[in-house]
Amino acid sequence: MENKGLLQSDELYKYILETNVYPQEPEPLKEIRALTASHQLFFMGTSPDAGQMIEMLLKLTGAKKTLELGVYTGYSLLLTALTIPEDGKIVAIDVNREYYEIGRPVIEKVGVEHKIDFIESEGIPALDKLLENPDNKGSFDYVYVDADKINYLNYHEKVVKLVKVNGIIVYDNTLWYGSVAKSEDLVPEVLKQGRTSVLQFNKALATDPRVKISMAPLGDGITICRRVY
Ligand SMILES: C[S@@+](CC[C@H](N)C(=O)[O-])C[C@H]1O[C@@H](n2cnc3c(N)ncnc32)[C@H](O)[C@@H]1O
Repeated sequence: MENKGLLQSDELYKYILETNVYPQEPEPLKEIRALTASHQLFFMGTSPDAGQMIEMLLKLTGAKKTLELGVYTGYSLLLTALTIPEDGKIVAIDVNREYYEIGRPVIEKVGVEHKIDFIESEGIPALDKLLENPDNKGSFDYVYVDADKINYLNYHEKVVKLVKVNGIIVYDNTLWYGSVAKSEDLVPEVLKQGRTSVLQFNKALATDPRVKISMAPLGDGITICRRVY
């Protein structure tokens, strides 16, 4: 298989960001990125190139009712809030409200907070609660999953029931720092558990007849799923 140069070097990634992504990135998103840069977990934020694709998907599908699992300081949340229509909604779940509070002033300032229903909770019980309401089943236009990788398969079983047929689910970090293609002995200890979960998840997703997928090598890898039935 020919390597066509994709993800070949840090320089290439820098080129993509500087030439294609940053010039179109909305100012408030730059602000959240700047606020997050000094945080100890800054690397958790959604990559702006992946964000650009998500914005494209939200616009193309006309998504209005959305769900996000894994908010952190709110980069992807604000991106979604800025992109969906004025009467659009985002159910945003995160176990840690403190992170959300870091980016919240920016979200407030741009006047999109009314679209957000922030739920401070572990992901599984929050999704179960959503599923208890029959109106939620098959109703979400778009779901973004960017929380603990160890639960991705559990999350998938739930969000696939929440998203509507032909709706979109995006999973972040599905290349897990490139570790998915390395042999385990070359993978740093800190990545090992996540790598095992992501490997299992990627394999299961590729054979799940309920979704059609596209793995986009943006950021840390995003897998875009369309619910088929
Ligand atoms: C990778 S960050 C999300 C980044 C975010 N999408 C952004 O663009 O900045 C992961 C988030 O998932 C949250 N999280 C981790 N485990 C969780 C769980 N079991 N349930 C809910 N949220 C969880 C963390 O608190 C953290 O804020």
